[in-house]
Amino acid sequence: MKLFRYIQGAGSFKRYYRLLNDLYRTVYGRELMLHFPFYLEENESFIQRQYNLVDHCLENLGDLSDQVLLEVGCGNGANCKYISVLNESVTIIGIDLNEENLEIANAHMGSSRTQFIHDDAQKLDHIEDSSVDVLICIESALHYPDKDAFFRQISRVMKPGGKFLVADILRRKEDRGRSLWWWKRTMLLHHTNENDYQDYATRNKLKYLATSDITPEIVKGYEGHRSWIPRENRNWGSFVLLRFTLAILVRLYLKELRIHKKYMVFNGVHA
Ligand SMILES: C[S@@+](CC[C@H](N)C(=O)[O-])C[C@H]1O[C@@H](n2cnc3c(N)ncnc32)[C@H](O)[C@@H]1O
Repeated sequence: MKLFRYIQGAGSFKRYYRLLNDLYRTVYGRELMLHFPFYLEENESFIQRQYNLVDHCLENLGDLSDQVLLEVGCGNGANCKYISVLNESVTIIGIDLNEENLEIANAHMGSSRTQFIHDDAQKLDHIEDSSVDVLICIESALHYPDKDAFFRQISRVMKPGGKFLVADILRRKEDRGRSLWWWKRTMLLHHTNENDYQDYATRNKLKYLATSDITPEIVKGYEGHRSWIPRENRNWGSFVLLRFTLAILVRLYLKELRIHKKYMVFNGVHA
């Protein structure tokens, strides 16, 4: 039964996130962030490496105290929760299109200064003009067919001088975007390249302060993944199944990242 559910997970965007949430709950007993791990040191846990990525993203965004931070594509809210613990005075809004992720966010990730809203990154209907100090978008823009519309929204909702960060998986220059076409279709993947990203910013009066390629840290982040599923009280069948599912996912991610894609971080400012 579980095997059937895991196979189904590859079949659609919604089911993929259901599978990830289910996998993490089964292995770790709680929801985790829905992004790739970032390597800093040997022998770190998967959870620590997910935190590392958020820490890395926050590094250049300055002091968040008393700021309004918008996370676009907040998933199950785990990043928002992590940030709300790091800084108690930041006001956080998380938006996402996936109702199941938002249900988890509302049930487990809230704080008095955090709210989660159903919205589309390309519209941001619920976010007022010039209302956001800091905007982050981690591993979500790859799903947006119209990234120019998303950048228009960044420009509209941010206060002048506000900082934004987009972490996204891009096509390498030479890649024609034909790898894993079946996975892309079912997973609503719309990867673009770095030139497109330069155009989105220029057209929408946004300025990058720094761009960096963190593919090596992400690829290395999967080092040691065989130890991430503890045997503990699990029966042999579910242990093997979990290991197998993780091994397939890791293989898929790493092949893409090593050959066709790169993981980029864009730090910018509203001019
Ligand atoms: C890989 S998850 C990342 C979640 C979170 N940012 C994190 O780092 O854990 C991508 C999220 O983007 C959301 N998403 C996809 N398309 C979207 C859109 N057009 N507007 C808002 N959210 C979207 C998905 O529902 C999913 O929850």
